[in-house]
Amino acid sequence: MSNFFIYGANGYTGELITRYAVERGMKPILAGRNAIAVEELAKKHHLEYRVFSLDEKDRLEAALQEADMVLHCAGPFSLTSRPMVEACLRNKKHYTDITGEIAVVEAMAARDDKAKEAGIMIMPGVGFDVVPSDCLALHLKDRLPSATHLSLAFYGMGRISHGTQATMTMNIGKGGAIRKNGKITHVPAAWKTREIDFGEGIVKTGVTIPWGDVATAFHSTGIPNIEVFTVVPPSALKMMKASRYLGWLLATKPAQDFLQKKIPPGGPTDAERARGKTLLWGEASDLNGNRVESRLQAPEGYTLTVLTALNITEKILSGNFTPGFQTPAKAFGPDLVLEIDGTSLLDVQ
Ligand SMILES: NC(=O)c1ccc[n+]([C@@H]2O[C@H](COP(=O)([O-])OP(=O)(O)OC[C@H]3O[C@@H](n4cnc5c(N)ncnc54)[C@H](OP(=O)(O)O)[C@@H]3O)[C@@H](O)[C@H]2O)c1
Repeated sequence: MSNFFIYGANGYTGELITRYAVERGMKPILAGRNAIAVEELAKKHHLEYRVFSLDEKDRLEAALQEADMVLHCAGPFSLTSRPMVEACLRNKKHYTDITGEIAVVEAMAARDDKAKEAGIMIMPGVGFDVVPSDCLALHLKDRLPSATHLSLAFYGMGRISHGTQATMTMNIGKGGAIRKNGKITHVPAAWKTREIDFGEGIVKTGVTIPWGDVATAFHSTGIPNIEVFTVVPPSALKMMKASRYLGWLLATKPAQDFLQKKIPPGGPTDAERARGKTLLWGEASDLNGNRVESRLQAPEGYTLTVLTALNITEKILSGNFTPGFQTPAKAFGPDLVLEIDGTSLLDVQ
């Protein structure tokens, strides 16, 4: 037996992963809590399906007997990852997800010993967040083994999905985060900005965000100081700064209910994904003034998420895994992302 579950298969990203998986000849078992949507999707692709919510423990356990691993696509993962990873540990099944949430990654890292005992791999962040940036981080560390500081940045040229907006909205009042002296450290929202040269004449103002690499890049590289930047429109930058003062209000339940309901369903269309691309940049430096800089180009974020998640799934199902908590680059090396068509890496300095 060599198969996997896609839980949250009827979400925007789950559905996209399902479609691409079928095109690759894979036959995942689809799962989720929405019976009508999961059944409809499964029938469309002639796949098996199971319907259960994450608090239906018996049905979750029974479902896990039927596969070797889970590709968890139901987010926000701070609300969904715990029952799934616990069930994977109990049933000795590999766990992967597409989270980019720092707290979720750290909660997974804390299960390292249990995963080793169970002989399974736990790998959060097998999508756009964090595969390309994790590979870039380890590439930079390999170029400068004495690195003490790491800065990463990405510029996503494309639209974001319902679930991504829902996750961002949920975290709106929580401010920012960086890694300082090895510890995840809270900083104000939009704490720092800097000009970033993404190449091809594209120079943009990056702003710090609490991105998954603040957690993962430390596990991959051991570099103790990490900041992650992204590019946002000037109006969004103002909003981020305003959230330092209004964040508490936006985090209240009535405000969250209101904001969450306003998020449109779905995500970028096929045509939008085809037009989009992602530019990444990274810099590592040490205390002696040595500095290296590299750039990475990759497909649009959701396309990349699908391709990296399925690439990693194929590896795990073929027996290529390391028990314990793993990051993508740590388990599969810094060239992992270069296995994806349309991806290229350039050392600048
Ligand atoms: N790492 C990356 O680069 C990356 C890329 C893409 C997406 N993501 C993340 O992946 C998540 C999904 O994004 P999306 O745009 O695909 O979202 P979406 O279209 O809103 O779909 C969310 C899916 O999760 C399910 N779900 C949500 N809460 C659940 C719960 N408590 N129990 C069971 N199922 C639950 C939904 O089921 P129902 O239909 O029943 O509500 C749906 O199937 C988000 O957290 C997003 O940030 C990350």
